Formats: sequence, C-alpha cells, structure tokens
Amino acid sequence: MAYNGFAIDKYLNAEEVTRQLDELIKKPVYSIRPDKLDDYVENYFEKKCAKSKEMIEKAKEVIPGGVQHNLAFNYPFPIVVNKAEGAKLYDIDGNWYYDLLQAGGPTILGSNPPEVRERVIDLLNTCGPSTGLFHEYEYKLAKKISEMVPSVQKFRMLGSGTEACMCAARIARLKTGKKNILKMGGAYHGWSDQLAYGIRVPGTKGLMSKGVPGFVFRHTDEFFPNDLEDLERKLQRNRLSGGTAAVYIEPVGPESGTRPVSKRFIKGAEYLAHKYGALLIFDEVVTGFRIGPGGAQSYFDVDPDLTIFGKIIAGGYPGAGGVGGHDDCMAYLGAGLDSSGKKVSKAMCGGTLAATPISCVAGYYTLCEIERTNACEKAGRMGDRLTKGLQKLIEKHHLPFVAFNQGSICHLDSVGTMHFVVDWSKPWTIPEVLKQTGIRQKEMEHMGAAYMAEGIVTLAGSRLYTSAAYTEEMIDDVLARFDRVFENCGRIDV
Ligand SMILES: Cc1ncc(COP(=O)(O)O)c(C=O)c1O
Repeated sequence: MAYNGFAIDKYLNAEEVTRQLDELIKKPVYSIRPDKLDDYVENYFEKKCAKSKEMIEKAKEVIPGGVQHNLAFNYPFPIVVNKAEGAKLYDIDGNWYYDLLQAGGPTILGSNPPEVRERVIDLLNTCGPSTGLFHEYEYKLAKKISEMVPSVQKFRMLGSGTEACMCAARIARLKTGKKNILKMGGAYHGWSDQLAYGIRVPGTKGLMSKGVPGFVFRHTDEFFPNDLEDLERKLQRNRLSGGTAAVYIEPVGPESGTRPVSKRFIKGAEYLAHKYGALLIFDEVVTGFRIGPGGAQSYFDVDPDLTIFGKIIAGGYPGAGGVGGHDDCMAYLGAGLDSSGKKVSKAMCGGTLAATPISCVAGYYTLCEIERTNACEKAGRMGDRLTKGLQKLIEKHHLPFVAFNQGSICHLDSVGTMHFVVDWSKPWTIPEVLKQTGIRQKEMEHMGAAYMAEGIVTLAGSRLYTSAAYTEEMIDDVLARFDRVFENCGRIDV
C-alpha cells in the first residue's frame, strides 16, 4: 500500500476502464427488474416514506419540481432529510441511510463534524454570519490553502464553484490577452452561460444549455477527453481566431472522473496549454482536499496557473468557492497593481455574501481536520474497499455494470449514460444518441431508487462518495445492500 496521504493507492488504467464503458453501452440495458422496482415503490416508498411524500406534494405548490437542489430530484419522489451525522442520513419518517452522496462532495469528514460545528457556533455567538468587512479567518483560510496547495500563492474566496470558474475566465483573458476558452467535453464547470457547453456528453456543444443564446459560445469550445491530439488541434485552430486564454481541466476526468483520464493526458494538457500561451486552469471543485490535502495537482505533480475550489473549501457550509493561483495571475483580482507595482486591469468579481466569516471559519477548521485526521487517505481507502467489493458483486451476478474509482470518488455505472458521444460529422445519429441517453438516464434513476430503498443514498444512482466517517464494517454492510439490489437486476426491454 502506498497512499502516502493521498486518496489513491494505485491510479486506475483509464484506457481499460474506457474500454469497459465502451462495451457497456453496446450491450442491452440491465437494471432493476420492473416487478422489483414496483415492490420497492409500493412497500418502501409508499409505506415507509409517507411523510416525505406528503411534504414534497405540498412543496410542489411553491417550489418548481418540489425541491430546491438538483441532486434531490429522486425517483419516485425526493426524501426529506432532517438529520445528518457522520456517514448516516435520517429522514422525517424515521428511516436511516448510508450517505454516499456526501452533499454532492463537500463533506469529506462526514456530515456535521463537531470539530467544525463548534467553531461555527462560537463565531455566530460573537460575530454573526456576516459583516461585509474583513474577518481574521479570511486570512487564516487563505494562508492554510496556500500552505496546502503548492501552486496557490494567493487565494480569493467567492460564493460557489460556478462563480470561481467565471472569475478564472476573466483573469485568463486579462493575463493572456487572448479570447478563447477550451474545456473538456462532458466536463462541468458550473452553470454560467459561457461554460455551459459540452456538458455531460462530449460533443453536445450547446445542446444541453437551453436558454443560453448560441452567440455566447463564440469563444468557447470543447476537446475530446483524454485526447491530446484533439486538444492540440483546437489550440492550433484558435491561433487563427484570437488565441486560447485558458484550458480548463477537471483533473480526474469530466463529471468528476465519470470518463476517466490518464496521468499522461494530464501532464500532456499542462504542456500543451503552456506551449500555446494559455493558462492551465485546474477545476478542483471536487478533487481539492479530496484526492489529497494538496489536491489532484499534488498527486499528478502539475503546476496549474489557476485552481478553482468549491465544495470541501467550506466544509459543507454555504459560500463554497474560490480561485487560487500564481501571483502574476491573481494580481488581476487585486487593487490594480501587481506585486512589482506594475499597473494591471482589475477583473470584476465578488458577491455580497462571498467570503463570509462562516464560510472562512468552516473552511479553515475543515482543512485543519483533514490534515489532523489524514481524512483524504482514510476516505480513499474506504473508496477502494467499496469499489473492489462492487466489482466482485458485479461478477457474482453476471451484470455488465462497471465499477471504478479515483480514491473516494467511486463510480458505479450500470448504463453508461455519460459514455455516449455526439458526433457532428454524423448529424443523423444525434437524435438516437439523445434518445439512448434519456432511456439510460431513467434506468439510472430506477437503480438510485432501489439503492435508496435498501438504505443507500447515492449521487444520481451512479456516483458514490466515501468520507472519512466510514469504517470497514460500514462499507461491508453497504456492500451487502448492493448485493440485494444486484440480485434483482436483469435485462430490461426499453
Ligand atoms: C468540477 C466542478 N466544477 C464546478 C462546479 C460548480 O460548483 P458549484 O456547484 O459550487 O457552483 C461543480 C459542481 O458540482 C463541479 O463538480
């Protein structure tokens, strides 16, 4: 074993996992059998989650779709959670669940750790949630991040990962004087207009971005994940139309590594971005303080110009976003002068509730706890145990599913929805691809419902985050529950 404080013992073979996912989408759909799904709906959700159902019905009258958070849209209806502690969630009907959603990623220490909560309560008792003026924890958090993450000389806190991604684009354009942004197809860099491009399924361009006018994408393009030749082709092409200001990378692959990339690709992307005068922007919203205390960049030994933070940076508390990076880039967020006193333009970004004392205190003590408890490695070991167990269960039940992980980011792909590609050179195939992804998405939701009925909350039925609050015994119990679901899976006619 060679974790060395990182979440990863041995990095996955991206080519091999990609081959397995390629196979998966060629096969018929396997999912929870319809009779068993009906049984779960009738005997679990309808009978044991009645209070959740009633509340969501009422909520639908005043909240579009009945929930405020995209991750809470669950089949057959969302459950209402009113207690969270460590690795467990509790709903208003008195049921409990293993939490593999981890609020979408921020709670690597587990839910509501007292070491952070008590500091937040102290702060509320003395200062309240916000003043609009400087608080000492803004300094403490920035200092901590600059000590933990090698490429971060300066850090600026914002309200969310989405905002931080927007801010980084402005810095990149000012710093390089170039126009275009390149992102990996399928990657998610928040929902701002210009970056809502090529989302989830590579090649979709603006197809998933309803409501965003096409001209907004004039300077945004996507390259194929794990494909250095395609990246270089796009960089070369951009030279004829204003150059490339930034290459955005999700370090373990698009959608938190759902489509994994190799170490070679990451190093190659760093080389190519710099060869063409672009900034390398590492979007570490998911991987920051999860792949290791120094983020994925420490693991891959990469020195990005800018790093985007979110999620863990506020430990599950509100206001989780920020940009960090090299001095000469971060100067564009200062008062108009760089560190040598040279005048530079100022990138406008901020927010009334950016960098509140709550976000900064919660972030600071979360990072301290991560270091003190070696949380990244611990959560990663749990991710390895979970993934190996899932792989054995998949084999045992002769299912076509694919399980793999990057430390505590685990993927259980039963249908391969995000492994499809839209190919504009064959436009007649696009409707069929979109139809297939829709069908498979529905089955993924059914799998999510089956897991929930067995007491496991997942992210959209296909991603599982482990936290440091898990023990080996808990993971084994989680696996016993997956076993019960897999036992009732079979080929589905779609
Ligand atoms: C890689 C990545 N970047 C950016 C974001 C956007 O962050 P936020 O949801 O805080 O706006 C996310 C959110 O999941 C993400 O996974």
